[in-house]
Amino acid sequence: METIPALLEQRLRAAVEDPGDIPLRITSASDSRFGDYQANAAMLLAKQRRQNPRVVALEILDRLKVDDICSSVEIAGAGFLNFRLRPEWVQARVEMLRLDAHLGVPVPERPKCIVIDFSSPNVAKPMHVGHIRSTILGDSLAKIAEFIGHKVVRDNHIGDWGTQFGMLLVGWKTVLDRAALERDPLLEMERIYKDVSARCREDATVLESARQELVKLQSGDAENLGLWREMIRLSQSQFDTIYGRLGVRFDVTLGESFYNERLHPVVEELRARQIARASDGAMCVFTDGSLPQEQDPFLIKDKDGWRDNPAIVLKSDGAANYTTTDLATLQYRLETWHPDEIVYVTDGRQQLHFRQMFSVFQRWMPEAAASVRLSHVWFGSILGDDGKPFKTRSGETVRLADLLDEAEERSFAQVSERNPALPEAERREIARVIGLGAVKYADLLPHRQGDYTFSWDRMLSFQGNTAPYLQNAYVRIQSIFRKLAEAGSERILGAALLLEHPAEVALGKRLLEFGEVLPMVLEDHRPNTLANYLYELANTFHAFYEACPVLKSEGAQRASRLELCEISARMLKTGLGLLGIEVPERM
Ligand code: ARG
Repeated sequence: METIPALLEQRLRAAVEDPGDIPLRITSASDSRFGDYQANAAMLLAKQRRQNPRVVALEILDRLKVDDICSSVEIAGAGFLNFRLRPEWVQARVEMLRLDAHLGVPVPERPKCIVIDFSSPNVAKPMHVGHIRSTILGDSLAKIAEFIGHKVVRDNHIGDWGTQFGMLLVGWKTVLDRAALERDPLLEMERIYKDVSARCREDATVLESARQELVKLQSGDAENLGLWREMIRLSQSQFDTIYGRLGVRFDVTLGESFYNERLHPVVEELRARQIARASDGAMCVFTDGSLPQEQDPFLIKDKDGWRDNPAIVLKSDGAANYTTTDLATLQYRLETWHPDEIVYVTDGRQQLHFRQMFSVFQRWMPEAAASVRLSHVWFGSILGDDGKPFKTRSGETVRLADLLDEAEERSFAQVSERNPALPEAERREIARVIGLGAVKYADLLPHRQGDYTFSWDRMLSFQGNTAPYLQNAYVRIQSIFRKLAEAGSERILGAALLLEHPAEVALGKRLLEFGEVLPMVLEDHRPNTLANYLYELANTFHAFYEACPVLKSEGAQRASRLELCEISARMLKTGLGLLGIEVPERM
């Protein structure tokens, strides 16, 4: 179904003579006292035509036909048009919404293919709290894109190649503790890596043996390849445990090593096309001068002014690197899926890498670059109370598995306090849904490009903009239906809606906004906009519930209010689901 702004824009277009390239946009009213939606078209047109905006607004009003939708359209301020919706029209739209499996989200004219590169941890290292943001953001964007109707390829670009394997192999062959490896493979691999890398710093012979092990691996030595595969297998199995807990899945897991064969051909092509050139023994891409200096990713400014900051695609030792791998990966993705968009979800420290990589790609394949949108969706850090990166009490990075355990434990204590009589298994399950939901929501709610402070108390609170608050709104609606069933009555399926009380109309309008919000969330890659919408929905529902008795009302009014409860619950559940958050039936 169309959104309200889309409908009003059609009417506006019909009322404006010759708008040229002026966008005729309808947005939510900034102040609901003056209307529900607004347009600034008259102001934009007046500026272009050098006329008085109020005169242009009057002209538009004269031709505008929206009587069926709006009870009033008023000119306000410098020439805004303010639209107020008719309650009976809102009611009819909510009737449509109720039957719409897509909950009012318009079906795209042409579905896109979107590759989402997210999570992408490095092999042989435990996933830590830093990986949660990429995993959760990426998963939510994938779910939203799919719900809207796009084709999504979830690609876990794991770091399974690189110089670290030289040290890991030395460690494996010299200091591996088998029993520790059995207990916790990633912890043991991390330990041997740290051990060898410390020794490398002190002892040149260790460094040399790491280099030799790496060369052997790269030239296909059977023993080293076998050990390397074992390290990947062990890592993947621990990643899978975490993904299972988080309800995250991938369509493909193509690690960096998958692209090895493509690396040298990529460098060769860049060289032949004179995009890359030799510099100090390395192959580098320099600025082509096409951008203003401030925006050029191949320049940086220091005290002496602007200087080169090239992207290296082949190091002086002949090895390709992260940039080369990402270029090869991009080439493979284009050949394989012909995507309309590729989304890379990583932390903000990789901004320069992606700006350079996207720019090299554009020079390398200008035609392909024109038909694919490349989005680096980056995010800030998670901080502790002290304003520094979030650490354990003993100062170590927080392992993701431990964090999820703690979330469930803390939530279990709360659930047990509230519902001591529930069987333990049920309390555990509720605690799982609330605990994991709280962690995910706290991560998705802040503007992703900022840092946020991790706080158990805040995220697990039933008050404020939190997962438990939203889950509780859903649970309260379910309890209405339970009470109804206990009293021996049932919802009248498909009962007519009657939106009479202002709180009912307000809830109806809020429900209709979902279809406007969701495409925007995907366009800007900002699940926080969906989180905030759901919070507003829960608040609007509570206001309705306070003002309009449901079970104590009667007849057609009661049937209608129960329907409003049902759609609200469905929307809360669907919306939270798109953030990767489940809802309990009681809590
Ligand atoms: N493995 C990388 C890291 O841990 C993230 C990879 C992101 N994806 C990509 N195509 N570069 O930093």
